[in-house]
Amino acid sequence: MKSKIYILIGPPGAGKGTQAKNIANTKDFVLISTGDLLRENVEKKTELGQIAKSYMDKGEFVPIDLVAKIIKANIQQNLGKNGFLFDGFPRDLSQNVLLDGMLKEFDLEVDKVIYIDVKDEAILERLTNRRVCPKCKKVYHMKFNKPKNDELCDDCGVPLITRDDDKPEVIKNRLATYHKSTHPLVEHFEKLGKVIRINGERTPKEVENEIISHI
Ligand code: AP5
Repeated sequence: MKSKIYILIGPPGAGKGTQAKNIANTKDFVLISTGDLLRENVEKKTELGQIAKSYMDKGEFVPIDLVAKIIKANIQQNLGKNGFLFDGFPRDLSQNVLLDGMLKEFDLEVDKVIYIDVKDEAILERLTNRRVCPKCKKVYHMKFNKPKNDELCDDCGVPLITRDDDKPEVIKNRLATYHKSTHPLVEHFEKLGKVIRINGERTPKEVENEIISHI
């Protein structure tokens, strides 16, 4: 049986990371989150991570050859699995051409694109109050999705951190980049009849239930 290919798209702060892990667990999909994979490289101070950090801190795309290496290795390691969920890739039309080529190599194709729609006005509040577990990557919000215990991860007990790119001026840049480069992908996949549009301005559980009902 061919692996299913799903892509999560949405502006920064739409809730992609919040949803991705649960969807992947529920559907037994391999999760490929380029943001998390790049941040892992930054933390480990790999050569790739050191180059990536300078772009991520400004809210710009990391050069595609670095991202492509990570993606291809992850697909190869997991061939034959039930499905893949991509979070953060592709990020523009040229990355989509690259993904298409990689998938063809493995006789795979994109099944559906889950577009989490959240308006810009909600994004700043979401991102300035976001906290993340450095160990398991679980995402919290200090108003909407608080940890049980002060600023510690519910699952790992380690202190939560604020991402370096969650500064207001960087958020503005990430949003502008999203509208210019990433959103055209939604229009591209809409023409192919592959987009599932989800209203992301509801509770995380409501958003999750709707996504799961479409997969
Ligand atoms: P990446 O990590 O992919 O960042 P992003 O796309 O900007 O998205 P975020 O992770 O900021 O937001 P999210 O949608 O996951 O929201 P979250 O669930 O955390 O990429 C980071 C950087 O890496 C890029 O800028 C780039 O430099 C580089 N990069 C990555 N991929 C690349 C690629 N392919 N090519 C080149 N460079 C690449 O939620 C946000 C907050 O809202 C949280 O606090 C959460 O608790 C809260 N929240 C979530 N859902 C709800 C809800 N329903 N109601 C209320 N609050 C909610």
